[in-house]
Amino acid sequence: MMKRKRIYFLILICLVPVVVIYFQSLGTEEKADARGDLYAGSQKCIRCHSVEYKSYLLTGHHQASMPAAADNIHGSFAAGSNSFLLSENSKAVMEKRGSSFFQVAYNDGKEARAERFDITFGGVKAETYGYWKGSKVFELPMSFFNAKNSWTNSPGYNTRHPYFDRPITQRCFECHSSYIASLPITNLQEQEPGFDKNSLVYGVDCERCHGPAANHVNFHTENPGEKTAKYIAKFASLTRAQKLDACSVCHGGGKDIYLESPFKFRMGDTLAKFKEPSFAKEDPNPATIDVHGNQRGLLATSKCFLMSNMDCSNCHNIHVNETANLVAYSQRCMKCHNEANHNFCTMAPKLGLTIKNNCIDCHMPEKPSNLISIAAAGGKKEVPYLVRTHRIAIYPEESKKILAFINDKKTVN
Ligand code: HEC
Ligand code: HEC
Ligand code: HEC
Ligand code: HEC
Ligand code: HEC
Ligand code: HEC
Ligand code: HEC
Repeated sequence: MMKRKRIYFLILICLVPVVVIYFQSLGTEEKADARGDLYAGSQKCIRCHSVEYKSYLLTGHHQASMPAAADNIHGSFAAGSNSFLLSENSKAVMEKRGSSFFQVAYNDGKEARAERFDITFGGVKAETYGYWKGSKVFELPMSFFNAKNSWTNSPGYNTRHPYFDRPITQRCFECHSSYIASLPITNLQEQEPGFDKNSLVYGVDCERCHGPAANHVNFHTENPGEKTAKYIAKFASLTRAQKLDACSVCHGGGKDIYLESPFKFRMGDTLAKFKEPSFAKEDPNPATIDVHGNQRGLLATSKCFLMSNMDCSNCHNIHVNETANLVAYSQRCMKCHNEANHNFCTMAPKLGLTIKNNCIDCHMPEKPSNLISIAAAGGKKEVPYLVRTHRIAIYPEESKKILAFINDKKTVN
């Protein structure tokens, strides 16, 4: 009797690792891509394109949206720098509770509401955060602004009490993620549809730009000797308009009305086919085009663009984070503008060699956005949200400032 029990016990013990391994394998089993069978998921690209993949992880596109976590919430949770006063009796406090992070509203010192950081949007200049409530996503009252290294009222909020009820719409996800499925509207009071939470594909991923690539992956897995790309759009053979559209779907301004979901847009498509036909000509007045979100619109007003065949990839090395690397960008200007071509900067004699390090601050200065501004703590003046203008031109005022700055440095040295 005893022996038998012992044997059963031994068998049971032996089964433990088997069961553990089984459940672990369930956990690591890859989830099918929410976009359907035509999509492989970015993870699949690592094997053959590890260079692009690794450097891509550091780009703004990858962090356009992410599951909120300690390493992508850059504001402070330390006492003393984790609260934002909205009025004498109302404040928002950022608190770590257990393993989660919360924004907590206090009225007259009493907790009024707490919501969790679920999704982080951005991280280059600013971050804003979403939280799930049922099938909807709402924006948290506080955002983080890098230039001030501080918490700030989320853009456009002008309340004396923390405001938790602004929906994060499908439109945000269309530019800041690779996919999210909307649910059907079930009652007439609903303004915005909810989402299927599990369908969210975070960030602007490989296939958001390159299009569905499952066939490409399958083909090259089965034919490792094949060195020419199959079943994937070839950027180099697209027309200029198609190349520009591949970026304009998210960098062409947010005003357009889409008839077909921009999630379906892929490299090689023509953007006009996705939109309501517009009979108004493209607005040629650069003063009315905002620097935020409409690089395409501003670039199109530049002589460089009008008098060459340039597209975004002349200057942008898509899979690499080159933020603030103005030397690298200036070298790309000099591919077209140099002494040999007799179209170099007419300021070159005055500037000497320093000119080669920075064409950008004089010809593409940062300009304040009219769409976004950042409120400072305690109702102080708003801080401008600066974005690099893509209208490449001569800016006498900015140039004077940069010149003065360069000359200052010369006298110091
Ligand atoms: C089994 C290997 C393999 C996998 C996995 C793979 N690729 Fe490729 N890919 C290739 C080969 C081979 C080429 C052609 C040589 C080259 O350009 O590197 C290529 C080329 C490309 C090109 C360049 C097309 C052109 O000519 O302009 C793109 C874009 C691309 N792949 C995207 C992807 C994406 C996105 C994924 C993941 C969803 C992926 N690939 C996964 C093998 C693979
Ligand atoms: C699906 C939408 C989408 C597409 C397509 C897209 N972008 Fe972006 N891009 C974004 C968003 C959103 C950001 C801001 C990301 C952030 O910082 O959170 C961004 C940021 C950038 C930045 C700043 C990155 C940084 O790290 O500072 C550059 C440069 C850029 N995009 C260039 C391009 C070019 C060139 C193309 C076309 C080849 C393109 N993008 C296509 C959505 C898109
Ligand atoms: C038409 C495309 C588009 C839409 C719609 C859009 N964004 Fe963006 N967003 C961008 C681009 C492009 C950038 C970065 C470059 C710039 O400022 O032009 C950006 C920048 C940001 C940043 C700063 C990112 C950083 O890294 O500094 C945040 C935060 C942000 N967007 C949140 C949102 C939210 C929230 C919504 C919805 C209310 C939204 N965006 C809607 C395209 C879009
Ligand atoms: C924002 C859009 C965008 C994203 C995101 C993106 N790519 Fe690309 N990719 C491009 C463009 C545009 C080109 C063409 C670049 C050129 O020819 O200058 C390109 C080129 C390529 C090439 C051809 C070789 C090269 O480097 O020029 C490969 C391979 C590739 N991409 C793979 C990937 C993989 C893998 C990912 C995800 C880790 C990815 N791409 C993410 C836009 C994107
Ligand atoms: C693909 C080639 C090309 C690239 C790259 C390029 N340009 Fe140009 N640019 C031109 C052409 C063509 C013109 C018009 C004829 C001329 O002045 O040579 C022009 C004109 C200009 C002008 C005169 C603008 C005016 O309104 O009078 C300035 C300034 C300029 N470019 C600066 C730059 C800077 C700075 C960069 C890099 C950020 C750059 N360009 C990148 C082709 C280019
Ligand atoms: C002539 C060169 C040139 C071309 C062409 C160009 N860019 Fe840029 N872009 C730049 C430079 C320079 C910066 C500034 C980089 C920095 O300050 O970190 C920049 C910055 C950006 C940013 C970040 C802006 C910010 O301040 O946050 C975005 C987004 C962007 N470019 C998108 C595009 C798109 C989309 C296209 C095509 C429609 C394009 N660019 C074409 C040179 C160029
Ligand atoms: C200190 C500011 C400053 C810097 C740095 C600078 N530029 Fe200029 N650039 C100017 C100004 C100002 C003018 C107009 C001068 C004039 O009217 O004679 C100009 C004129 C030009 C022109 C028009 C020339 C023509 O034929 O009308 C081009 C092209 C140009 N710059 C390109 C560049 C490039 C490329 C770089 C980087 C290698 C650069 N600039 C660096 C301020 C600057």
